[in-house]
Amino acid sequence: MRVGIIRERFQSEHRVALTPEAIQRLHQRGYHVIVEKGAGIGAFYPDEDFRAAGAEVVPSAEEVLQRADILLRLYMPEEAEITHMRSRQILIGTIQAWRFPERVEQLRARGITVFALERMPRISRAQSMDVLSSMASIAGYKAVIIAAERFGRLLPMMITAAGTIPPALVLVIGAGVAGLQAIATARRLGARVEAYDIRPAVKEQVESLGARFLPITLEIDHVEQRGGYARELPEEIQRRQREALATYVARADIVITTAAVPERPAPRLITAAMVEQMPAGSLIIDLAAETGGNCELTRPGEWVYHHGVGIYGPLNLPATVPIHASQMLARNIEHFLALFLRDGKPQLHFEDEILQQTCIVHDGRLHPFALDTQKVL
Ligand code: NAI
Repeated sequence: MRVGIIRERFQSEHRVALTPEAIQRLHQRGYHVIVEKGAGIGAFYPDEDFRAAGAEVVPSAEEVLQRADILLRLYMPEEAEITHMRSRQILIGTIQAWRFPERVEQLRARGITVFALERMPRISRAQSMDVLSSMASIAGYKAVIIAAERFGRLLPMMITAAGTIPPALVLVIGAGVAGLQAIATARRLGARVEAYDIRPAVKEQVESLGARFLPITLEIDHVEQRGGYARELPEEIQRRQREALATYVARADIVITTAAVPERPAPRLITAAMVEQMPAGSLIIDLAAETGGNCELTRPGEWVYHHGVGIYGPLNLPATVPIHASQMLARNIEHFLALFLRDGKPQLHFEDEILQQTCIVHDGRLHPFALDTQKVL
C-alpha cells in the first residue's frame, strides 16, 4: 500500500500531513510512503529525515499523485492535481467539500474514494483521529499568546518595588476545545479568567481550569444538537444574550471568542456598541473569523482598532505552530489509517461508523450529506 504526501501549496501553510516519526511507524506496518521533495520544509522536516524514516522522496507532486494508493492532504486538491489522480485511489484530508462542489464531482467522476476528516464523529473511539480538536487546541493556545504579545499591560499580578500590578482579566466566550485551551493558557500566564458558553454542561470543565463560569441564564431548553454541538439560537435569544454579556465584555482586558455552530455562520455576540464600552487598550481575539466572526467589527486576518480597542480575527492559527500541528495531524491520520487494515491487509469496512461518516465519495457515488458545510480550523 503506497501512501503519498505532497507539499501543501496553500498560502502561508507550513504544516505537512505526515512527520518522519509517523512515517517510520507506517513503514514498520508495511506501508510504502512517497513524499514530494521539500514537503516538510515549512514544518522544519528536511527530506533527509523523511528518507531516514523509510520514505521515498520524489522530485514532483505529479509523481506522488499518480503513484499513491492513498493520498493525504490538508486541503482539497486543485483541479489540475486531480487530473493526475486515478481511479480507485483514496484521498484523505480536511477536504471542505461544500466549498468545492465541482472538484468533488471531478473526484467522483474519476472513481476516487474521498474521506473528509472534518466530518469525524465526536465519539470516544474517534478522539484520537479528531483533527478539528487537535487544531482547535492549538488555536486556543495561540490566541492567548497573540493577545499577550499585543497587550499593553502584563497578564500576571506582579508585586514589585515599583508598585503592584493587578492581574489582567481575560474573558473566554465559547468553552469548547479551543475555548478550554485558551482558558488553560491564560491561567498559566497568571490572568484571572472568566468564561461563558451556551452549553451549561461545560461549567464544571471551566471551573476545573480555575476560571469563573459566568452566571448567564437564558431560560432556553435544548441548547445542544447532535454530537454535543451547540445549536443556533433564535434572534430574540441572541439579543438577550448580547445584553447579558455586555457588562462582562466591558470590564474585560482581553476577550477571546470561539463560539461556533456547525453548518451555520458564527453567532454575533459582540456588537460595535459593546466594543465602545471596553477600556482603550483592551483586545478581542476572534477565533470565529473564518465563519463570519463573533464580533461585528472583525475583519478576517486583520487587526482593526475601534475606540482604542484592538480586534483581530486570525486565520489558520495551527499553521503558525507547524511542528506540533503536523505532529498532531500525523497522529490523527495514523489512527485513521489503522481502520483501513484488517489482519494486515487493506480493506474498507463501511460498517464502521467512522468510515461511514467521513466518506463523502465512493464507488462513483456521492454521500447524501457530502456537500453539507462543516467547519474546519
Ligand atoms: P465548536 O467549535 O463547534 O464551538 C465552540 C463552542 O462555542 C462550543 O462549546 C459551543 O457550545 C459554543 N457556542 C456556540 N454558540 C454559542 C453561543 N451563542 N454563545 C456561547 N457559546 C456558544 O465546538 P467544539 O470545540 O468543536 O466542541 C463541541 C463539543 O464536542 C464539545 O462538547 C466538546 O467537548 C465535544 N467534543 C467531543 C469529542 C469526542 O468525544 N470525540 C471531540 C471534540 C469535542
